[in-house]
Amino acid sequence: MSNKIRLGILGGGGDSLIGVLHRVAANMFDKYQIIGGCFNPDPKQNKDFADQIGVNASRVYDTFEIMISEEMNLPENQRIQAVSVLTPNFLHYPMAKKLLENGFHVICEKPLTTSHEEALDLQKIQKEKGTSFAVTYTYTGYPIIRQMKDMIKNGVIGNIQKVDMQYYQGWINPIIHDKSQRNSVWRLDPKKAGISSCIGDIGTHAYHMLEYLTDMKVDKVLSDLNHLYSDNELDIDGTVLIRFSDYSKGVIRASQIATGEENNLTVAIYGDKGGFRWEQENPNYLYYLTNDKPLQVLKPGNPYLSEFSLQDTKLPAGHPEGIFDSMGNIYNGVAREINGEDNFKGSYPTLDEGVRGMKFIEKVVESNAKGNIWLSL
Ligand SMILES: NC(=O)c1ccc[n+]([C@@H]2O[C@H](COP(=O)([O-])OP(=O)(O)OC[C@H]3O[C@@H](n4cnc5c(N)ncnc54)[C@H](O)[C@@H]3O)[C@@H](O)[C@H]2O)c1
Repeated sequence: MSNKIRLGILGGGGDSLIGVLHRVAANMFDKYQIIGGCFNPDPKQNKDFADQIGVNASRVYDTFEIMISEEMNLPENQRIQAVSVLTPNFLHYPMAKKLLENGFHVICEKPLTTSHEEALDLQKIQKEKGTSFAVTYTYTGYPIIRQMKDMIKNGVIGNIQKVDMQYYQGWINPIIHDKSQRNSVWRLDPKKAGISSCIGDIGTHAYHMLEYLTDMKVDKVLSDLNHLYSDNELDIDGTVLIRFSDYSKGVIRASQIATGEENNLTVAIYGDKGGFRWEQENPNYLYYLTNDKPLQVLKPGNPYLSEFSLQDTKLPAGHPEGIFDSMGNIYNGVAREINGEDNFKGSYPTLDEGVRGMKFIEKVVESNAKGNIWLSL
């Protein structure tokens, strides 16, 4: 029998955006085998898709509840061990809760839940069960991001004094200006997306990335959000001032109406000795800035990089690493933990980080609703 981790998938069907990224990531290091799931709530589409990706019909389930109860009836050495939750946001909590209660490892898409309270509940159950739980803030898996994290930890840029995180997309433009369309997408429906669209969907990536890279905790936020239309319940653009302390501050700028922008996540972190700039659309270049030397550009796979950065780089320098590799590295981090192998801290974003992400979303929405006031995280 294969030693691979038996993986189930919820959501991520043929009609989904993110499913393919997870399937490729799971297969990248030959550590998982996708053996079951419920990929789509429509039984026919569910079965057809499972057939297309080679999942045996006996392990394709009409609902997640049926999947969990049927899998629990199987001997442990055949049962699914880890489950990826790739559905719209409102389903993350009920799915993850039941999975945790039954002892499955979970790899869950962000945002973790639709409220901080739900997130805390998952945290409590996970502590009791002791299973692995990743929240897929995808971009933290890039080798050069891990390099930046290590260099900041080693004091290369000194004390952080200014941060500027930008996450600009423009995809919602054609939808938001059409009344019928803006009432039809789940990302703008509070029942399915939660209390925020833009901050919950992408601002949360920028926020998580900031704390991931700096190992610092944002202390306070003040936000100004835009809904664009009075009948649009959720934000689709926002600026969030952030403070680590009175002497270390910055901004998170996120938008889904930045016309023409695709997936422009740009990280800029400045310390008293140097700075870093990184752009997700050109993820192989880490710009290292200092006052007294010309600009340096660091690239993945080179021997001058840290062990953490090099660990999951599969090909020699000059072979670009992309979004699939980034997610693959996160899956590999989870697999290492499940298999009891040595693991770097930060090799995957944890449940605790997802819980903090939910607090960030709630406080940002609250700050805006209360007239743009400072709130503690
Ligand atoms: N990490 C990232 O960078 C990133 C990028 C995009 C999306 N996401 C997150 O991934 C999740 C899914 O987003 P998406 O854009 O792929 O959504 P999507 O609407 O494109 O796909 C959702 C999938 O879930 C399936 N589904 C819906 N209800 C289901 C149910 N009850 N049981 C089983 N399957 C069900 C749908 O059939 C579909 O296959 C969201 O939480 C989103 O925030 C993360």
